[in-house]
Order: sequence, then C-alpha cells, then structure tokens
Amino acid sequence: MTETLKIALLPGDGIGPEVMTVAAEILAELVSRFQLPIEATTFQWPSHEWHRQHGEMMPGDGVAQLRAFDAILLGALGDPGPIDDPQRYLLSDSVSLAPLLALRKRLNLWACERPARWLPGAPQYLADERACNVDMLVIRENSEGEYSNQGGRLRAGTPSEVATQVEVFTAGATERLIRHAFERARQRATLRGSTRLFGKEKTAQVCLITKRNAQPFWGDLYTETFVRIAEEYPDVDTHHELVDAACMKFVQCPWRFDVVVASNLHGDILTDLAAVLCGGPGLAPSANLNPADERIPGLFEPVHGSAPDIAGRNMADPRATLMSLAMLLDHLAPKHPAIGNAAQHLHDLIAEDMKHAFSGTRETGQRLSQRLAAG
Ligand code: NAI
Ligand code: MG
Repeated sequence: MTETLKIALLPGDGIGPEVMTVAAEILAELVSRFQLPIEATTFQWPSHEWHRQHGEMMPGDGVAQLRAFDAILLGALGDPGPIDDPQRYLLSDSVSLAPLLALRKRLNLWACERPARWLPGAPQYLADERACNVDMLVIRENSEGEYSNQGGRLRAGTPSEVATQVEVFTAGATERLIRHAFERARQRATLRGSTRLFGKEKTAQVCLITKRNAQPFWGDLYTETFVRIAEEYPDVDTHHELVDAACMKFVQCPWRFDVVVASNLHGDILTDLAAVLCGGPGLAPSANLNPADERIPGLFEPVHGSAPDIAGRNMADPRATLMSLAMLLDHLAPKHPAIGNAAQHLHDLIAEDMKHAFSGTRETGQRLSQRLAAG
C-alpha cells in the first residue's frame, strides 16, 4: 500500500492566511487531479492570533507535533498587521514572538535554499536585458551565526547602556553548509546538462560571501573551509565576494552567479535583493532543510514576511507561496512518481501565469484554479 504523506499547513500572521488559502486550494486540486497520496492538515499556530487566545505562540508540544509530518508549508510570521489595528502589539514576551527562528532551530533545518530565477513575464527592474538570465540559488546558513540570540543589554534604558549581540560560528555548521553548496552546484549542473558555465571549463560555480576584511574571525573560518572543500570539487568554479561588493554585483551582473553560499544575516539580506531580481517579494520561494537527515520535515515558505502594510487587503501575491509549494512537492517527489508530475505541473502553471500582471490575491488564485481544472 502506498504510504500517505502528511503536510502541515501553517498560515501564520498578516498576509500569511491570505496566501495560504490560495495554496491550500491549489494543493487540494493537485491531490485530486494527480491522485496524490497526500493529506494536508492546517494549524492555527504559530501565530499572533493564537498568542492572543492562549498566551503563547504555539502549544508546548508544537514542534513535536510538526516532527510527525513529511513537510511543512508556512504562509508568513511576524507583525500581525494590518497597521491600523490598535490591538496588534498587545503582546509581551519578545522571545515568544520569534517562532520562525525557533522552528528552524528546533527542527534543526540548517540549510535555507532560496532559488532566484527570472521567469518570462515577471516584472523586470533592471534595464540590462541579460538580467533575464538570472538563475541562481542562494544557500543561507540557518542555525547559528548572527542570529544566535547571544548577548544582552546592560543598564538598559539608561544613557550608559551597553548592548552586545554575539555571533557564533562553528566549524561543524560551516563545513556542512559549504559542502552542501558544492553538492547543490553539481546537481544543478547535471540538471542543466553539464555544459560549460559562464564561458569557463567548469560546469558549475559556488560563490562564497563573507565580510572577512572587517570580520576576520568567522570570515577566515569560512574561507579556509571553502578552499579545503573546493579541492574535492574540481568541476566547480569558485569565487569569493565581500557582502557589500556582492550587493553591487547582484544588481550590475546577477546573471554571473550560480550557487551563492552565505551566513544567516548576509543570506537573509541578499535573498531579499535576489527576490527583486526575479520580480519582487511576491515571486520568491524558499526551503528550510536538513540535508543530512531525511526524517526531519522540510519547512517551505515564501521569502517575504507578514507584510502588515497590505495585510487583509487582497493585495498579497500568492505565487511566492505556490512556488514554495512546488518546491515542497519536488522535495517529496522521490517518494511517489505522481508527486513529481504534480510539482512539474505546478511549476509550469506558475510560469505560464507570469504573463498576467498581479491582480489581487483571490483573483490570482481563481485564475490558477481555473487553469488547473482546464488542463
Ligand atoms: P515583508 O517581507 O513582510 O514586506 C516587505 C515589503 O514587501 C512590503 O512592502 C510588503 O507589502 C511587500 N510584500 C511582501 N510580500 C508580498 C506579497 N506576497 N505580495 C506583494 N507584496 C508583498 O517585510 P517587513 O515588512 O520588513 O516585515 C514584516 C514582518 O514580517 C516583520 O514582523 C518581520 O519580522 C516578518 N518577517 C517574516 C519573514 C518570514 O516569515 N519568513 C521574513 C521577513 C520578515
Ligand atoms: Mg528576510
């Protein structure tokens, strides 16, 4: 008998429930059309609304419950919006307000993958026509680094206050991240057909991002690890950019990047920039994975946050969430051939839909549903 795969849907805050409504409908239609062995369950936590009712962002055993799933799709977490709601900051415990970082850490999802590929028809903010060839994968460290939550405030609120924010980088987390980037670069080359890349003899490329000129300690750890691992991948070209220069090159010549590997903070910032290269926050998906342990469910989510400025106004593009759903299905594809077909169908459907300018959350969902039903 075919195993039923379980997917947890977490709508979250702000525009999260709006984009998730669309994603849940499309998933249900794919399940019925492709006879997918998939069962979806929607949770009202973590969210500010749950916090309002229960005094916590999620139940104490929330993470344990999620571990029993095969994959998780998240809408967005953060400022609950809309911004004219006077109740939205009636929360106290600031640590409980960071459930997304807690989920990623407690599920040990140490690799965050954010593909950035421009699809024909999507908004193009760069004038150079080569910008249509943007096709990169940014891999962000997801477990430590700048987001380690170490430090504190001494004499808080006084003129002599001292705040510290400690960054933590370990050899183990650095090695697994960089090795994963090289593996992904090879896989991408295989999918492309292993042709030469960027006019070089090599078939793939990994760019390391640091700020080692100003932050030499972790910068050197990353660089030394990168150089050592690169020797095992002679087919993969390498280069190293300081994060500020990388920001310029993402705009000047983004088509020159293949796989980019970056720390937690640098990856966070660079992927918002990469999202704009592909048409904006409404069109950028992501996956949080533990590539070393298949049993841990991946967490798939749009790159954007809860967008309080547009929450509740039918203005959120649901396609970033649908692209994240397509990545989720791709990830589960090895478990059942029909899931791979559904993932490809959803990819094609979204790509085909790019010729339509964004026209409302519900309208976009309805148009895609109709296309799905039509063939
Ligand atoms: P944001 O990503 O929520 O919004 C940035 C801008 O992009 C806003 O102008 C918003 O209207 C627009 N935007 C976002 N998603 C869109 C969509 N689907 N369609 C059209 N426009 C869209 O970032 P912001 O405003 O800095 O953060 C809001 C809250 O979200 C904060 O509490 C933050 O901590 C949280 N956040 C959560 C993330 C997550 O769940 N992965 C990621 C980033 C922020
Ligand atoms: Mg971000």
